[in-house]
Amino acid sequence: MVFETRLIIIISTFVVLTCCLRLGVEANGSLDDMFEEYAHNSLPTHQKTGVLYNASLPSNLTGIEVSVIRLRWDSFWAKGANYSGFQMPPRIFSYPYSPRLDIVYSLVDNQSSYYYSYYNVANDHILVAPVVGFNVYGNNFTAKLNLTLFGGPILIRFPQVINEKAKCVVFYSNGTFGMSNKTRQDMCLVRDQGHFSMAVPKEELEDVKEKRENLWKWWVFGFGIGVLGLLLIGFIVFIFIESIRRRNIQKMEKEAEKNEVLETTYVGQSKMPLATVVRTQPVIENDYVP
Ligand SMILES: *[C@@H]1O[C@H](CO)[C@@H](O)[C@H](O)[C@H]1NC(C)=O
Ligand SMILES: *[C@@H]1O[C@H](CO)[C@@H](O)[C@H](O)[C@H]1NC(C)=O
Ligand SMILES: *[C@@H]1O[C@H](CO)[C@@H](O)[C@H](O)[C@H]1NC(C)=O
Ligand SMILES: *[C@@H]1O[C@H](CO)[C@@H](O)[C@H](O)[C@H]1NC(C)=O
Ligand SMILES: *[C@@H]1O[C@H](CO)[C@@H](O)[C@H](O)[C@H]1NC(C)=O
Ligand SMILES: *[C@@H]1O[C@H](CO)[C@@H](O)[C@H](O)[C@H]1NC(C)=O
Ligand SMILES: *[C@@H]1O[C@H](CO)[C@@H](O)[C@H](O)[C@H]1NC(C)=O
Ligand SMILES: *[C@@H]1O[C@H](CO)[C@@H](O)[C@H](O)[C@H]1NC(C)=O
Ligand SMILES: *[C@@H]1O[C@H](CO)[C@@H](O)[C@H](O)[C@H]1NC(C)=O
Repeated sequence: MVFETRLIIIISTFVVLTCCLRLGVEANGSLDDMFEEYAHNSLPTHQKTGVLYNASLPSNLTGIEVSVIRLRWDSFWAKGANYSGFQMPPRIFSYPYSPRLDIVYSLVDNQSSYYYSYYNVANDHILVAPVVGFNVYGNNFTAKLNLTLFGGPILIRFPQVINEKAKCVVFYSNGTFGMSNKTRQDMCLVRDQGHFSMAVPKEELEDVKEKRENLWKWWVFGFGIGVLGLLLIGFIVFIFIESIRRRNIQKMEKEAEKNEVLETTYVGQSKMPLATVVRTQPVIENDYVP
């Protein structure tokens, strides 16, 4: 029985893994093709070089942003490009030669869970940033260009603040991925076009969550104890004051009854001391001498 259950679990895991891995690989090529197509279609016929255009995407692609810029080869070589969070240095050689090249930028965030889930890291890691990427095309999108970086790596700035323990993730076109440390200020250095994100070990996230929950519990606990303590102290003080007051009243009553200096009267049902005469005559201390 137990053995059978295990077998079923193993088989279904295998089936799920194979299916999803294949989906991932298939989606990959076609995702880039899809971005390219939307980018190409959203360029105006008389587009300018050096202007970034946002592609308009169908509404079922919420969570995805695609933009495109056309640059002259010599300008890209001399100045690089700094758009959409990718800081590309000068001296990036693109091949085969095309006098104008189109850089297609993409961003897939977790609102688009359908496409976001294509970008899988190992089971013990979880993505904590959108998947951003870029590809370079030439000759009016008829060729995908290869890049060689002679001027140092490309710097990626992610659009949101990332977990401290996050690592940079590179998704290679052969379907594998690599990880590296981020640079200062939550940026990643990369050496080619492709898709990139950031990931943290799962246990790290769970640790943080647990710590937060524990902290919260301690807060609630401490607050409760504090309130109870205050109530208790208040109660004790009240009892103390009350007992002193009672004792004083009893004392006064006893003395009053002993001496009977003051006459008593009843107001309603309470016994009250009643003074008929003012015993201390007021004395004017300083006579007014004109
Ligand atoms: C393109 O989209 C980005 C992100 O949604 C936005 O910040 C930017 O203003 C848009 N640019 C244009 C020209 O519409
Ligand atoms: C989104 O809509 C387009 C047509 O507008 C369709 O071709 C595509 O398959 C849809 N994608 C998803 C994920 O539903
Ligand atoms: C690239 O652009 C960002 C903001 O868009 C800016 O902060 C940064 O300094 C630019 N980098 C270079 C090298 O110009
Ligand atoms: C999507 O990402 C944001 C910011 O990183 C996070 O707050 C949110 O919980 C994520 N949503 C899902 C469904 O993972
Ligand atoms: C680029 O291709 C589009 C459509 O494929 C076409 O309309 C446009 O004229 C082409 N541009 C150039 C400069 O050839
Ligand atoms: C571009 O690079 C890929 C992989 O490195 C290679 O297979 C391909 O032949 C290159 N294309 C050109 C035109 O050099
Ligand atoms: C999808 O394609 C990108 C680059 O085109 C690649 O980095 C990534 O690993 C691919 N993902 C899968 C699951 O094949
Ligand atoms: C995938 O491509 C990357 C970078 O090009 C390379 O380091 C890695 O060995 C490749 N993996 C496989 C399985 O081909
Ligand atoms: C990455 O960071 C970890 C911890 O901060 C460090 O131990 C490791 O040496 C770093 N790796 C590289 C290649 O710098």
